[in-house]
Amino acid sequence: QIQGTIFDLDGVLTDTAEYHYQAWQRLADEEGIPFNRQANEALRGVSRRASLMLIIGNRRYSDAEIEEMMERKNQYYVELIKNISSQDLLPGAVSLLDQLRQAQIKIAIGSGSKNARTVIERLGIADKVDAIADGYSVQKPKPAPDLFLFAAQQLGLAPSLCVVFEDATAGIAAGLAAGMWTVGLGPGERVGAAHVVLPNLAGIKWVDIRAKLTRYSR
Ligand code: G6P
Ligand code: MG
Repeated sequence: QIQGTIFDLDGVLTDTAEYHYQAWQRLADEEGIPFNRQANEALRGVSRRASLMLIIGNRRYSDAEIEEMMERKNQYYVELIKNISSQDLLPGAVSLLDQLRQAQIKIAIGSGSKNARTVIERLGIADKVDAIADGYSVQKPKPAPDLFLFAAQQLGLAPSLCVVFEDATAGIAAGLAAGMWTVGLGPGERVGAAHVVLPNLAGIKWVDIRAKLTRYSR
């Protein structure tokens, strides 16, 4: 029995994961720290602070320098998302949200980003979601279950009635830790721990996902 869905934002509904990468790349270049697309794989779905820690590795920086770098990266990111619009929704995203509304399944966003609300508004999907859990909602970032538990609470639903859509290893771990159903979007090496794994949302039918999860629970 599923009554609610919780969608990660970056890399699930829109490809802002690419902009997060570009912003980190620019910061790393400025700091002379080796970084590339492959190294960025480890940052997918990871909080701002934890991402920076992974980039700097064992290089020594003061707390003030760390704060400044987090702020600088965010400025670059904010600049990159300035012009996003509904054009930037990934294929299948709106269709799935509309199918869920039609099926009277509740919808929340569960994103660790402090920019999530801005992105949701620019994408034009604010009126398609019932609740938003973002980078301001809880203290502990994914893979802790806290953000998704907060989202379920906002929907007024028990965790076991919710399914999480995620593109990141940390996000699937968070969904499982929350006692929720999980749909992983992307390669198995990344989201293979999910109950259902799909390449992306393109052409997705809610009834098919529901059937797959129901089969699982018997
Ligand atoms: C999401 C993204 C991460 C990002 C994190 C914090 O989890 O997938 O790439 O680091 O949000 O986002 P913020 O916009 O607050 O830096
Ligand atoms: Mg993501």
